Amino acid sequence: MKVTQSNKSLLLKGGKIYDPVKGQYRNEDILIENGKIKTIGKVTETNTMDVRDCTDKIITHGFCDIHVHFREPGREDKESLATGAQAALAGGFTRVCAMPNTNPPLDTPESIRFIMEKQKDLPVHIHPIGAVTKQQGGKEMTEMASMKEEGAVAFSDDGLPIADGQVMRLALEYSTMMNVPVINHAEDLSLRGDGVMNEGKMSTRLGLPGNPDISESVMVHRDLELAKLTEAILHVPHVSSAKSVQLIRAMKATGAKVTAEVTPHHLYFNDTALENYDTNLKVAPPIRTEEDRLALVEGVKDGTLDCIATDHAPHTIEEKEGTFDTAPFGLIGLESSFGAVYTSLVKNAGVSLEQILDAMTIKPRQIMGFDTDLLMEGKEAELVVLDIKREWVFEKTHIYSRSANCPFVGEAFAGKPEMVLNGTTIVEISK
Ligand code: DOR
Ligand code: ZN
Repeated sequence: MKVTQSNKSLLLKGGKIYDPVKGQYRNEDILIENGKIKTIGKVTETNTMDVRDCTDKIITHGFCDIHVHFREPGREDKESLATGAQAALAGGFTRVCAMPNTNPPLDTPESIRFIMEKQKDLPVHIHPIGAVTKQQGGKEMTEMASMKEEGAVAFSDDGLPIADGQVMRLALEYSTMMNVPVINHAEDLSLRGDGVMNEGKMSTRLGLPGNPDISESVMVHRDLELAKLTEAILHVPHVSSAKSVQLIRAMKATGAKVTAEVTPHHLYFNDTALENYDTNLKVAPPIRTEEDRLALVEGVKDGTLDCIATDHAPHTIEEKEGTFDTAPFGLIGLESSFGAVYTSLVKNAGVSLEQILDAMTIKPRQIMGFDTDLLMEGKEAELVVLDIKREWVFEKTHIYSRSANCPFVGEAFAGKPEMVLNGTTIVEISK
């Protein structure tokens, strides 16, 4: 991957531009100058321009991932903001939201300011998500209003559920004053018990303790009820089960302000993939059955699941080399996300390309209240160039994260991000 900074004129020539705001394609050139879109239209080349032939390529908004775990502060050996930004660029992302389960957690206005200051110099926009409770301890609320003022775009104790219903209710109530989403990692820990994978035939066969699908859906149900009661913005992260999809679909039908995300790994794998005890597939919530996976695909198709988010969660090789019982939960997914989603949804399940592009561009930006009208003259460039005809195998060499806990290594994908433009940053992604 080649990352350069350039104020020079860059001409993206002959591409097919997909504008997710209008839901339309147009065949135009894009001229970028000083990191800003100068012209969208037919542009005559001059010899001062750096020209890229984009024939047969799709150009759209840079991807936005509203659920990543970068480990700064505290575990920069797993991922720093800087290495996380490289992983994001390698996946076609220009903007991400970082979860607060760092060490210490992002539970004060100062910690939010720390992230905001650091990300300024990085080639990806990183928005911190603030913790709902101090130390993510589940009891005492953080200073949400001051954290929002410093730049927190949402609130979550992700990694851990907000187990106490009254705390969740208060969080939702406070969030309505700030008009920001609350994101709860829905897993009832008493039902999950020691479960390390989905409870079912596969867990019995592998002799591993199971985590039942209802550990998610009972808490999703509680959260949906609370969101309806408080009229707050609830965002349900990493939906993994058919039951949760059904509950979200039903609550959305009542007009509640609920949104939901699904990960590439829950769309791509089912629990039979765990038969080799690959700890890189140990994730919370777990990869579930083929029926669950198909329900997630349906959820994307009918819009119940609004956006795709990776839950990129780096861990060290040493930790992941432990047994399935002892390895930490989490996998990295920024670099592999578009290939995995294009393959599992567009190629293998008949979902339209536009729908997955929307789920990776405009939908996540809408959920977080970010600017969505990016394909306009004068705007800062935030673009990705995609080669959807490309067939490729995802290899270790495609990983730019500081960690390597990725279950997609060796998978055959269709569709690849090729280039990213983020302001004056120009990224040529590895072949
Ligand atoms: O698998 C997971 N890993 N799920 C989470 O919710 C947290 C994440 C992490 O931080 O490692
Ligand atoms: Zn989570």
